[in-house]
Amino acid sequence: MSLSALAPSLVHAVGTPEPKVLEARPATAPLMGDAAPPAAVWAYDGKVPGPVIRVKQGEELHLRFDNKLEQPSTIHWHGIRIDNAMDGVAGLTQAAVPPGESFDYVFTPPDAGTYWYHPHNRTWEQMARGLYGLLIVEEAEPPAVDRDLALAFDDWRLGEDGQIDEASLGHMRDWSHAGRLGNWLTVNGVSQPEIPLRQGERLRLRLANCCNARVLSLRLDGHAAWLVALDGQPIAPYQPDDGVITLAPAQRADLIVDAALRPGARTAILEVSGQYALEAGYLAYQSETALREAPLPPPAALPDNPLPRVLDLNGALRQELLMEGGAMGRMAGARHKGRRMGMRELVDQGMVWAFNGIAGMTEEPLLRVERGRTAVIAMINDTAWPHALHLHGHHFRVVERNGEAQGDTPWRDTVLLERDDKASIAFLADNPGKWMLHCHMLEHQAAGMATWIEVVG
Ligand code: C2O
Ligand code: CU
Repeated sequence: MSLSALAPSLVHAVGTPEPKVLEARPATAPLMGDAAPPAAVWAYDGKVPGPVIRVKQGEELHLRFDNKLEQPSTIHWHGIRIDNAMDGVAGLTQAAVPPGESFDYVFTPPDAGTYWYHPHNRTWEQMARGLYGLLIVEEAEPPAVDRDLALAFDDWRLGEDGQIDEASLGHMRDWSHAGRLGNWLTVNGVSQPEIPLRQGERLRLRLANCCNARVLSLRLDGHAAWLVALDGQPIAPYQPDDGVITLAPAQRADLIVDAALRPGARTAILEVSGQYALEAGYLAYQSETALREAPLPPPAALPDNPLPRVLDLNGALRQELLMEGGAMGRMAGARHKGRRMGMRELVDQGMVWAFNGIAGMTEEPLLRVERGRTAVIAMINDTAWPHALHLHGHHFRVVERNGEAQGDTPWRDTVLLERDDKASIAFLADNPGKWMLHCHMLEHQAAGMATWIEVVG
């Protein structure tokens, strides 16, 4: 027997685990249910959302991305404090994966919590077509719940035929206003799903806003909900005022909910940001006996993740980030591709927003910070629109809002700034590499609201 004949079984004997394969490809999804034929989408493993990926905290993940799309793509693991080479940003941390090729992502998520994945190349188009999924990192000792449910919210822009409105992809009117807002809301790819409940059970609900640009305000009618984590990171549990949880695009919230109604009860998951509440889905009690009769005590806090205990704000490196542009803004021009352009020329280039007078990505980072130092970025939203600023590779705290110092605010990876808001974020620059900082209203990102920082040493 030749050595080469032996080799495969030897490799096998060592036990190198096969990577999980995640394939991006055209597919169909019944977004409108029975009301219309299934919509043509792009999807991971043919499903919208893509498969929920679950891993234990501290365990290595090996995922092979197979690109079966007609466009180059990548996968970004949103909110994971990941090795830079695995961050999936086309043009910054890797080359986009061409159609027909693949890329191996290997990383060990340091933090437990609710995260998600999506492309980072033409994200505004690829996500609008259905490419996203949740990534759940389980605590070594998860909280005691009867069920753990992940709910990915998305708004689609569909035509009357139930198909994605492709003609409006890339419309400057959306790009210069709120971004691409949909007219059809789904939860886990389904319109108004019914979630069966049993009286007395305790649920962990993981909510994720996977919309291109819509800010969602969610409320579970008839139920008290304990908020226990934001953007993956544990917080001291509390019940929000009015039960409303506002999630900007890309933000997540973990809730603990006790099913306290009677068998047969049916209540709505409401989206209340607009003038009228929308019923996004339903909690439907099944007619059976209660799982338990006595109410449960309030939930304990989730175990801490390995984030810094203190941030040295006095020794921090400070950087301002002036956000400008958009419809009804004051911006007269900005630098793009290395030179100053007026608004008309910028619009011809697909640019309408700027950070510090620069539209789009640059050769040099916004900020270069030595590893181990704290950095503060003071953001000023000088536009007529809300923005959801996302920093890669790190979680941060909002340390100042509209001139007021904040206490120990939650660790976040995305922060919402309303029009004319100011917010300063602070983070320990402990993850070396090149990290994007951009608006997660994806049309804003594509139209100029994108920059990067570098952690060196
Ligand atoms: Cu959720 Cu730069 O991405
Ligand atoms: Cu924005």
